[in-house]
Amino acid sequence: MATSVLALALLFLHLLFSITSAADSITANSSIADGQTLVSSGGVFELGFFTPPTSTARFLGIWYKDIAPLTVVWVANRQAPITGTTASLAINSTGSLVLADRSGHMFWSPAPSNAVTSSSTPVAQLLDSGNFQFQDANGTGPVLWQSFDHPSDTLLPSMKLGWDLTTGLDRYLTTWASPADPSPGDYRFEIDIRGVPEGYIWYNGTSPVYRNGPWNGLRFSGEPEMEPDNGNFLFEFVANSTDVYYTFLVDGGGDVISRFVLNQSTLQRYVWLQQQQTWNLYWSLPRDQCDRYAECGAYGVCDASASPMCGCPAGFTPASPRDWALRDGSAGCARTTRLNCTGDGFLTLPGVKLPDVTNATADASVSLDECRQRCLANCSCLAYSASSIKGGESGCILWTSPLIDIRQFESGGQNLFIRLAASDLPSNGDNSKKKNTALAVVLSLIGLLLFGLGGFFTWTKFFRNKGRFQSTRRLTSFDSSNPLYPVQDRNTEDEPSQSKGLVDVTLFDMATIASSTDNFAKSAKLGEGGFGAVYKGELGGGQTVAVKRLSKYSTQGLDEFKNEVVLIAKLQHVNLVRLLGCCVHGEERILVYEYMENKSLDTFIFGTYIYIDQTCRSSFGGFTDRVIVIEQTRLDRRS
Ligand SMILES: *[C@@H]1O[C@H](CO)[C@@H](O)[C@H](O)[C@H]1NC(C)=O
Ligand SMILES: *[C@@H]1O[C@H](CO)[C@@H](O)[C@H](O)[C@H]1NC(C)=O
Ligand SMILES: *[C@@H]1O[C@H](CO)[C@@H](O)[C@H](O)[C@H]1NC(C)=O
Ligand SMILES: *[C@@H]1O[C@H](CO)[C@@H](O)[C@H](O)[C@H]1NC(C)=O
Ligand SMILES: *[C@@H]1O[C@H](CO)[C@@H](O)[C@H](O)[C@H]1NC(C)=O
Ligand SMILES: *[C@@H]1O[C@H](CO)[C@@H](O)[C@H](O)[C@H]1NC(C)=O
Ligand SMILES: *[C@@H]1O[C@H](CO)[C@@H](O)[C@H](O)[C@H]1NC(C)=O
Ligand SMILES: *[C@@H]1O[C@H](CO)[C@@H](O)[C@H](O)[C@H]1NC(C)=O
Ligand SMILES: *[C@@H]1O[C@H](CO)[C@@H](O)[C@H](O)[C@H]1NC(C)=O
Repeated sequence: MATSVLALALLFLHLLFSITSAADSITANSSIADGQTLVSSGGVFELGFFTPPTSTARFLGIWYKDIAPLTVVWVANRQAPITGTTASLAINSTGSLVLADRSGHMFWSPAPSNAVTSSSTPVAQLLDSGNFQFQDANGTGPVLWQSFDHPSDTLLPSMKLGWDLTTGLDRYLTTWASPADPSPGDYRFEIDIRGVPEGYIWYNGTSPVYRNGPWNGLRFSGEPEMEPDNGNFLFEFVANSTDVYYTFLVDGGGDVISRFVLNQSTLQRYVWLQQQQTWNLYWSLPRDQCDRYAECGAYGVCDASASPMCGCPAGFTPASPRDWALRDGSAGCARTTRLNCTGDGFLTLPGVKLPDVTNATADASVSLDECRQRCLANCSCLAYSASSIKGGESGCILWTSPLIDIRQFESGGQNLFIRLAASDLPSNGDNSKKKNTALAVVLSLIGLLLFGLGGFFTWTKFFRNKGRFQSTRRLTSFDSSNPLYPVQDRNTEDEPSQSKGLVDVTLFDMATIASSTDNFAKSAKLGEGGFGAVYKGELGGGQTVAVKRLSKYSTQGLDEFKNEVVLIAKLQHVNLVRLLGCCVHGEERILVYEYMENKSLDTFIFGTYIYIDQTCRSSFGGFTDRVIVIEQTRLDRRS
C-alpha cells in the first residue's frame, strides 16, 4: 500500500516536472508530439502544434508564450495541414529534422544548408529571439537551418529581411492566405536587388503594389516618418557585396515587444501594450492612394494634399489630359520638349520619394556635383539624386528609364533632379511648383465642370434659400443635407440674423490653398501654433492670407478643428482679423485667416472679430476631396 502511494506520488511529481520544465530543444532520440511544446529558455516564445481560428487542421508553429490571444509568428508546415493529432517533430536516425505522423507520412522537413555528419549530434533549439535553430555538434557546430531564414508573414527583431548574396538566400514575408489558413497568400514583401535595392509589396509575385524606395542613409525614401533611432526602435539597412537586408532592433531589456507583419496588402508594425494586454497598431503602409505603385504614371508626381493628387513637373504636361480631368493619372506626364542632349539642365523636385530604382545605378563614392556631371555627360541619363542624405547629400543615383512612382512629401522627402531641355527649364530658379499647382488648379476646374454640375443645382438652391449670403467664389458643389461640422452654438446662431452685415461665402479647395502657400513651403511658414503650423499665403486676387494647417496626423483632427472653429466663433476681439474660410481635404484641416502685417501670430489664431454661423460643410457622394463652404457673418464692432 505504502509503496503504491509512493509510486503514485513519484509519477505525479514526474508528470508535474515534465509539464513545468518544458525543454527548449530536441535532440536525437527526443521529439515533441502534438500537445507538447518547446519553450525558449527565457520563456519568451513557444513552439508546438496549434489550430488557427475556424480551422480544424493542425500546424507546427511558434508563438509568444505569454501573449493571448495566440499570436503565431512562424509556421513550419504552411502548405501541408495535418489532420488529427498524431504528428510529432523529431530528429531521425540520419540526423534530419522531420515532422511526420505515426504512419510515417512526412509533412515538413527543412533542407539543411550542409549535410549532417554521421557522427554528429544535431540539436534543434528554440531561442528567446523566436528563432528555431537547427545546429550540428550538440549546438556547437555550424547552423544547419534556422526559421529566421524562412520567414512566414512576420519579421521579429533581429530577423533579416533580404539577401545573403553568397548563398543566394532571399528572405521575404508572405501573407497567410486567410486568418484560418497559413498557406502563402497573394502578397509578398521582398527586397528587390535589381538596380538599387528597395522593398516591394508584390501581388501574385509579379505586380508591384507598393515600394518603399531606396535606403537613403537615414530611412527608406518612401517612409519619411521613419526615424533611424527613436529610442524604442533601431532600424538598420545593410547593402554590401555579401549582404543586402533590412532589420530592426527594439530597446534592450525586453520592455518593448514589437512585430512587423505583412497582413494582406498592408505592412503593419504592432507593439504589445502590457497594461491593456493588446496589440497596438504602431504604424502601417501603404498609407493612402499616393502610395499605390505608379499612381500618377511616368513622371507624374503624387501629392496627397493636392487636388487632384497627380501633378506634372515643370516641362511636362499630362499625357492624357482627358483621363487626368477624370482623376486618372496613370498615363503619366509627357515632356513638353524632347531632349536633344545639348544644353540640357536639371529641374529640382524637393521633398519627394525617389522614383523606382529597379533600372537605376548607384555609386556611393562620388559627390552630388560629380553625380550631376555624370548625368549631364550621358545622353540616356534622365535624372539623378544623392544616394545618401545622412549628413548632407552625397553619393549618386542615376536613372535611365522613365521616372515612375514619385510622390511629394510634406517633410522628410529628398531632392530629385530631373533632366529638362534648356527651353523648358524654369527661367529663374525653381518655379516648378507654381506651374505645377497652377496646372492643378486648372485641372481642378475642369474636373469641377465635369463633376460639379449635378451638385451645382443643389448648391444654388441652398444659397437661394439662404438669400442673405453673398457668394464671392463658387468653386464647388456640396450636399447641404450632409453637414460635416454641425457646430451648434446657440449664441452665434441667433446673432447673425440681427446683424445682417456683410456676409462672405468662401470656398477653398486644397489646390488653391496649396498654391497660395507654395505647397506649404518652409519659406512661407510664419510659425507654429498649438494645433499646427501657420503659413503666409497669397490667393489668386493678390490677397494675402494666413493659412493655419492643423496637425495632420493628429487622430483628433476633426474634433480639434471643430473646437477651434467654435472657439473662434466665441471669441470677440478688437483686432480686425477675419477668418476667411476653411478647408477639409482627406486628413487635412485648414483655417484661412486674413493676414495682418503688424499683428502678432496669436492675433492670426485667436484675434478674430467674426461670428461663424455655419461652418464647413462637406460634400460626400463621390466628391469627398473637394468641399468646403464657410458661411460667416461679420458683426458690428464691439468694444
Ligand atoms: C539514441 O539512441 C540510440 C539507441 O537507442 C543510442 O545508441 C544513441 O546513443 C542515442 N543518442 C543520444 C544522443 O542519446
Ligand atoms: C530522415 O529524414 C530525411 C529527410 O526527410 C530522410 O531523407 C531520411 O531518409 C530519414 N532517415 C530515416 C532513417 O528515415
Ligand atoms: C549537449 O549539450 C548539453 C548542454 O549544452 C549537455 O548537457 C549535454 O551533455 C551535451 N550532450 C552531448 C552528447 O555532448
Ligand atoms: C498570378 O500569376 C499567374 C502567373 O504567374 C497567372 O497565371 C495568374 O492568372 C495570376 N493571377 C492573378 C489573380 O492575377
Ligand atoms: C556586409 O555587412 C555585414 C553586416 O554588417 C557584415 O557582416 C559583412 O561582413 C559585410 N560584408 C562585407 C564584404 O563587407
Ligand atoms: C491584420 O489586420 C487586421 C486588421 O487590420 C487585424 O485584426 C489582424 O490582427 C491583423 N493580422 C495580424 C497577423 O496581425
Ligand atoms: C526597367 O527596364 C525594363 C527593360 O527596359 C523595362 O521593361 C521596365 O519597365 C523598367 N522598369 C522600370 C521601373 O523603369
Ligand atoms: C550611359 O548610361 C547607360 C546606362 O547606365 C550606359 O549603358 C552607357 O554606357 C552610358 N554611356 C556613356 C557614354 O557613358
Ligand atoms: C536642342 O535644343 C535646344 C533648346 O532646347 C536648341 O537650342 C538646340 O538647337 C537643339 N539642338 C538640336 C541639335 O536640335
